[in-house]
Amino acid sequence: MEKRISSPRRLRGSITVPPDKSISHRVAILNAVAAGPAAVGNFLAAEDCLSTLACLRALGVSWSLRENPDGGSDLTITGRGLAGLSESADVLDARNSGTTMRLLAGLLAGRPFLSVLTGDESLRARPMARIIEPLRQMGAQVWGRNNDTLAPLVIMGGRIRGIRYRSPVASAQVKSALLLAGLQAEGETVYEEPARSRDHTERMLRAMGADLKEEGNALLLLPLAKDLTPLSLRVPGDFSAAAFWFAAAALHPDADVTLRGVGLNPTRTGLLDVLREMGTDVIVSEERVVGEEPVADLRVRSSHLRGVVVDGPAVVRLIDEVPVLAVAASLAEGRTTIRDVGELRLKESDRVKLTVEALRRMGARIEEQGDALVIEGSGRLAGAVCDSHGDHRLAMALAIAGVVAEGETVIRDAEATDVSYPGFWQALDHLKGTS
Ligand code: S3P
Repeated sequence: MEKRISSPRRLRGSITVPPDKSISHRVAILNAVAAGPAAVGNFLAAEDCLSTLACLRALGVSWSLRENPDGGSDLTITGRGLAGLSESADVLDARNSGTTMRLLAGLLAGRPFLSVLTGDESLRARPMARIIEPLRQMGAQVWGRNNDTLAPLVIMGGRIRGIRYRSPVASAQVKSALLLAGLQAEGETVYEEPARSRDHTERMLRAMGADLKEEGNALLLLPLAKDLTPLSLRVPGDFSAAAFWFAAAALHPDADVTLRGVGLNPTRTGLLDVLREMGTDVIVSEERVVGEEPVADLRVRSSHLRGVVVDGPAVVRLIDEVPVLAVAASLAEGRTTIRDVGELRLKESDRVKLTVEALRRMGARIEEQGDALVIEGSGRLAGAVCDSHGDHRLAMALAIAGVVAEGETVIRDAEATDVSYPGFWQALDHLKGTS
């Protein structure tokens, strides 16, 4: 599918952002091994989370997904404890979803049967040694293609033991894989990471009765004494989906947009801090707690942005938002430097390279300098023909570039947005006043 975008005269209205993708994966996986049924409101029925649900069904878990009157989806899922999982008769296909593959690998490392995990071309090119190595240290039998670095993965689950592991990368997927294995291990698992990655797994595990403590930078997990307690919750809105509309509203010269029900977990909200530092006018209201997470409504209006420097742990808190931050920086006044973005090359695509290529085509002065992006804000972008290369976040970041560029922007492979945000194009029409 190809989408043609030109800049609307104004951008107005309010949007309820889609349910959080990271939380939807986790609430399904953890409840799948809990002791009994759970009801999850506002589950993200997008491609990635549907991959997780399909894998869970193949592992013997029963669930049903129903559309609710607000147009969202509600999930009921019945866990029968860790021992309720059974060997899948077929290969488990995570398709485009790194979270599905890495979290399930950790879970299945402790289950006494054979599992084979695969994914699409993008996922089969993404690094898996980061989970294979620590899981092997725990005594797990895990193998991967290309000398144990790539999927498909083969796992012969069995007895594993807790380890002390210091991850070289700040990754919530690696952390969650080890915690899921640690629940089933003999002895304590201690996990440390170089910067704090998103902590949704920790919040849920605690709410479900796991013995998980924090000591300084380390997480300390004891194996489960009894199965997890089911956790019924409502999934908050996805900050990473809301991020596209923050940027659009801040950049467009005549914008006033309210985003409702946005998850504001501090491990996720780096872009909000950076856009504020750049000069964005944001009003936060209706702060509340939804599903173990802080949530609020955000009103964002047209703003004059200035360049910034972003690096270190701040980058971990906005890693998925770097492409849209690069769009904002292209239109800001002055230079923006975003350092330490090496991990971004390992996402659904090499987002450093592809963001630079696409924004250059639109006239941006942006370049890669090692693992940094350097952008000289020029105050304008020009419409161009761009390709998402099947990467959902690139498709949406380029759509926002199109919303604020002069002339027409064409986005090829635009259906990639369905991976995390099935209503993205309708939301854009709504704000443009064309729906
Ligand atoms: C995710 C963690 C992040 C993020 C991804 C979702 C998760 O990846 O980029 O979109 O749900 O755990 P890493 O853990 O690889 O950093």
